[in-house]
Amino acid sequence: MIKIIILGGGNVAHHLARVFKNSTKVSLIQIFNRSLNSIKDLEKHVEITNNYRKLKNADIYIISVSDSAIEKVSSKMDIGNALVVHTSGSTSLNILKNHKRTGVFYPLQTFSKDRNIDFAEIPICIETSNNEDLKLLELVAESISKSIYKIDSKQRKQLHIAAVFVNNFVNHLYAIGDDICKERNIQTDILHPLIKETAKKIESMNAFNAQTGPAKRGDSSIIKKHISNLNKNQQEIYKLLSNSIVDKYGNKL
Ligand SMILES: NC(=O)c1ccc[n+]([C@@H]2O[C@H](COP(=O)([O-])OP(=O)(O)OC[C@H]3O[C@@H](n4cnc5c(N)ncnc54)[C@H](OP(=O)(O)O)[C@@H]3O)[C@@H](O)[C@H]2O)c1
Repeated sequence: MIKIIILGGGNVAHHLARVFKNSTKVSLIQIFNRSLNSIKDLEKHVEITNNYRKLKNADIYIISVSDSAIEKVSSKMDIGNALVVHTSGSTSLNILKNHKRTGVFYPLQTFSKDRNIDFAEIPICIETSNNEDLKLLELVAESISKSIYKIDSKQRKQLHIAAVFVNNFVNHLYAIGDDICKERNIQTDILHPLIKETAKKIESMNAFNAQTGPAKRGDSSIIKKHISNLNKNQQEIYKLLSNSIVDKYGNKL
């Protein structure tokens, strides 16, 4: 069994703790977090601590704290020659440089503590400072997921930007859609089937071919009408996205 310790008590740490608990290849032996309160719920399954000096011996230490705290947490760990990895999409491997054997274990998904998620479907992006450790990290990733990608720090930075577009920005557009419905007393869940079908569609066709709507058709009269019905902030976003779509399909307004 590969012995693992998680450092962190947030969204990702909780999901990793849950999935490793059921793994037959990995043994989660301890969880560390700055505040014990955030990991109290895990105490019935695994030893918890908030004391760096009480960290046990493990094969791999997974740091899953806020990006801004990774370097500080890493610098406080006195763990000999074990492998240390972080779970961040936008942080370079180099941030762990105070350890000899380092890596990244980045699960490409949006995690909230209280939402159940099937880890087997989540792509895990791995990177290590040496090849031997890549095999070890691959074993760990394969024990919980069906899709493993070897991605270096430069690629991961780009991937994280792509993820912001397809997840964070799209979700913000859902919020704008909700606001527009609420202004006219329309139930927001009327949009849910459309949201689901838009997401499903790209499993069988690419995003370029899946695009529909007035900007794709270059329909300037509809676009003008829509803009006149929006507030200033919504108008700016509508124009920016419409212009981007118009350019992409070589239309003129
Ligand atoms: N959430 C996602 O969807 C997602 C997806 C993929 C990767 N990631 C990456 O996974 C990592 C963890 O993200 P998360 O969403 O799980 O974070 P989170 O829920 O916001 O939890 C933050 C964790 O960092 C700890 N922390 C914050 N500042 C600290 C400090 N100065 N010293 C020590 N510990 C500190 C917090 O400890 P306390 O409990 O004591 O406050 C908590 O355990 C990040 O690198 C993130 O980029 C996140």
